[in-house]
Amino acid sequence: MTNEVLKTILERSSIRAYTDEKLTQEELFALKQAALASPTAMNRQNQRFIFVTDDAKLDLLENAVMQSIIDSGNADFAERIKARGGKTIYNARLIVIITAPQAHYSRVDAGIAVENIALAAKSMGLDSVILGMPEGVFTGPRGEEMKKEFAFPEGNEFCIAIGIGHRAMDKEPHTWDGSHVIEL
Ligand SMILES: Cc1cc2nc3c(=O)[nH]c(=O)nc-3n(C[C@H](O)[C@H](O)[C@H](O)COP(=O)(O)O)c2cc1C
Repeated sequence: MTNEVLKTILERSSIRAYTDEKLTQEELFALKQAALASPTAMNRQNQRFIFVTDDAKLDLLENAVMQSIIDSGNADFAERIKARGGKTIYNARLIVIITAPQAHYSRVDAGIAVENIALAAKSMGLDSVILGMPEGVFTGPRGEEMKKEFAFPEGNEFCIAIGIGHRAMDKEPHTWDGSHVIEL
């Protein structure tokens, strides 16, 4: 494959273990550009991207995600996560939380932006994992408090998050079924 964009798309895979190496300012800047360059319905650009690199905030999020899973009462799921080390953000040294006001297409816009960020990260030799699980932190009993803690703009909701860093494991991209494409 000589096309670098296609190569990046085909090589991306969710990585669930990261080293302690932090991202550089240059990498952070490039990821911010990838987020902001994402298309949005009617060019609303009403997403706000919260870039979390502070160690204390990352720890807070890690613990809050686990607590929100326990609080949700889904004991089986909580046990499964505890059994694999209790990690929910996998030591990723950057978490980007995508927030937006509730609106038609907000979640679609967020999905597009999160993949833009994932592919930009991969193209720079970084890896990523898209994270839906933190949602419970911002919708549960402590949701409003946690939104303030993570500087959500007033009226914005959690859409999706992504963890990024230097991989501490290998994983092949997922396989797929060609019949899921319907040709007419
Ligand atoms: C919307 C969405 C939410 C996800 N949430 C999580 C999550 O909270 N935790 C996690 O470990 N992986 C999460 N994933 C990653 C998926 O499990 C992963 O993309 C899928 O298993 C396919 O593997 P691949 O990304 O390696 O191709 C999420 C992926 C998507 C698209």
